[in-house]
Amino acid sequence: MPDFPDSAASHHDADAALPAWRIDIDTLRQALDGGPARSWQVEVVEETGSTNANLTQASRTAPWADDAARVRVAYRQTAGRGRQGRPWQGAGLMFSVAMPLALAPARLSGLSLAVGLAVAQALEDCDAACGARVGLKWPNDLQIDGRKLAGILIESVPAGPQRLWAVIGIGLNLMRDAGMEAALGRELAGVAEAMPSFDPQRDPTRILAAVLHRLAAMRATFLAEGFAPLAPAWSARDAFRNEPVRLLHDGQVLAEGLARGVDSEGHLLLETADGLQRIASGEVSLRGATA
Ligand code: BTN
Repeated sequence: MPDFPDSAASHHDADAALPAWRIDIDTLRQALDGGPARSWQVEVVEETGSTNANLTQASRTAPWADDAARVRVAYRQTAGRGRQGRPWQGAGLMFSVAMPLALAPARLSGLSLAVGLAVAQALEDCDAACGARVGLKWPNDLQIDGRKLAGILIESVPAGPQRLWAVIGIGLNLMRDAGMEAALGRELAGVAEAMPSFDPQRDPTRILAAVLHRLAAMRATFLAEGFAPLAPAWSARDAFRNEPVRLLHDGQVLAEGLARGVDSEGHLLLETADGLQRIASGEVSLRGATA
């Protein structure tokens, strides 16, 4: 295992408490055995700067193999990264997957939506009632009743012609945390509120196993056919379908209209006064127009 010299980097969130639960590695390995993620390496650390930073750094020199996906879980991050250069100050289940993909960067379109869908499906695998309450917010947030449940950050590291590592970082809130909500100035959701039987000791391991399983299955589909076959399942969970929305960049409204789902490449279809626009995810954020 390579060292991560920046793993102690600390510029925010350093005071977040360690959670009381731990991943049970033996149970996790048993759950992965025989499934599509069986060969994935999993490492768990108490604290690091950012699991995404760790794995993007490691991927730059990692030997290539199609089955070389690597997972890193941290109970606390001191420099967690969010989308659009924002810090991630979440707690909960935080991990990254360095996933080898024999694809050119141009073929990554829709990957972030496919990941969001995989996480939602994994929650449904764990508890159908929970899965039914989870909606997707384009491009790749998970939410419950308009409150953020999970965020996803994908960074890519080139590994040669038609080869790259997709470093997929996932932060999933397990319990609603009033302190965190106050610090962020927004309401959050937690898995526990949608999973009546949630067991804080056992379920983080179960959820992680289910997510890794779904990600590995998604990888096979995505490599073969891209996002297209996943688009109907994504649209069925679209929390904003046919709702009025605004697209923001740096706090400025770029476009507004009715959200009409996604196309086969994961572009948002926005019905505006000027006609239907296809929006690539990039640096854009979506908001309900009434929010
Ligand atoms: C977002 O802004 O919504 C994306 C948040 C992604 C957070 C996760 S937590 C695990 C992984 N490591 C990071 O530094 N970020 C991602």
